[in-house]
Amino acid sequence: KKVVLAYSGGLDTSIILKWLQTEYGCEVITFTADLGQGEELEPARQKAELLGIKPENIHIDDLREEFVRDFVFPMFRANALYEGLYLLGTSIARPLISKRLVEIAREHGADAVAHGATGKGNDQVRFELSCYALDPNIRVIAPWREWDLSSRTKLIEFAEQHQIPIARDKRGEAPFSVDANLLHTSSEGKALEDPAVEAPDYVYQRTANPEDAPDQPEHIEITFTRGDATAINGQEMSPATILTALNEYGRKHGIGRLDFVENRFVGMKSRGIYETPGGTILLEAHRGIEQITLDAGAGHLKDSLMPRYAELIYNGFWFSPEREMLQAAIDKSQEHVTGTVRLKLYKGSVHTVGRWSEHSLYSEAHVTFEDDAGAYDQKDAAGFIRLNALRLKLLAARNGRV
Ligand code: ARG
Ligand code: SIN
Repeated sequence: KKVVLAYSGGLDTSIILKWLQTEYGCEVITFTADLGQGEELEPARQKAELLGIKPENIHIDDLREEFVRDFVFPMFRANALYEGLYLLGTSIARPLISKRLVEIAREHGADAVAHGATGKGNDQVRFELSCYALDPNIRVIAPWREWDLSSRTKLIEFAEQHQIPIARDKRGEAPFSVDANLLHTSSEGKALEDPAVEAPDYVYQRTANPEDAPDQPEHIEITFTRGDATAINGQEMSPATILTALNEYGRKHGIGRLDFVENRFVGMKSRGIYETPGGTILLEAHRGIEQITLDAGAGHLKDSLMPRYAELIYNGFWFSPEREMLQAAIDKSQEHVTGTVRLKLYKGSVHTVGRWSEHSLYSEAHVTFEDDAGAYDQKDAAGFIRLNALRLKLLAARNGRV
């Protein structure tokens, strides 16, 4: 029996690795993805080798470009926000990790994959729905739902029994759980569990405190091509390079912090601290370019679909016909979303301060307060208002009668 494990190299997934070997008697294949979490991946390889994984069973993939190009950017075309605030940084990474797990399982003739998500969260749902959508015969093992290592003490005992190295700072309870990639860093649990209590500043890992950010604002320009960012300050860059650069601007100016209580798909509320520096800039910029390039009807319809689309991603239905249907509509809307946005970054905020495009629908000739030289006949508005008011008048008359 062979199983492909989504392996971070950390203590928890190392324990899972051993547990799969000992409890399931499986040959374990590890998969570690570089999604831009900003950690060295070589230690994960060394640790896997130390735990007895054969070199040919260790997969380490740089997925940064694919992540941004095929997952993050399509999602940003929709301006997706879950429950009005969350930019879905963890949610959008899970389908890609699942896709690679299934691919690697095929390569090795493995019939199972395993992940380190707990039985209480969203991530188990996202991993597993994605895997089953891509391979209906795959088996998914979720050790957190099966084993009896229910306390930190038991986990540490298990690690010690099996010679799993434990970093000094991992002996005690970790202060909170972190998930990071090129789009965001999330921190939740433990020290953050009381939503009444402000998170201490050390929780924030990739953004300056806005209070300490530069006193001088900075302006940048982002160019979009059919809905995707393609250049910063006139310089064309690949998707992952753009997001990396925007993260750096966001870090410096303290942009993209969020303290949020959300509804998990499994029914409970949870409190998280999120940092999405580049993504927060990108969302503002994308909305900025859509302001002049999207038709009102298309734009309003798209906005009305957005909460549903965001919920599908949050709940783990990236690989579903309904997400793909919405994506097709959203992508169609982006055909003319091409142009440049000028943004002002200042102490935690990002504002659009200028936008221009050859595809612009903005007509100064129509909107001007000055003489419009016959572009628009103001008299037309009188009939427009009369007909729109007709039923309101009939209603008012009826309501005055009874
Ligand atoms: N609550 C967020 C979400 O559901 C973040 C989850 C973080 N995951 C983690 N394994 N720490 O998308
Ligand atoms: C987990 O429970 O593994 C992390 C939190 C989540 O998936 O929502």
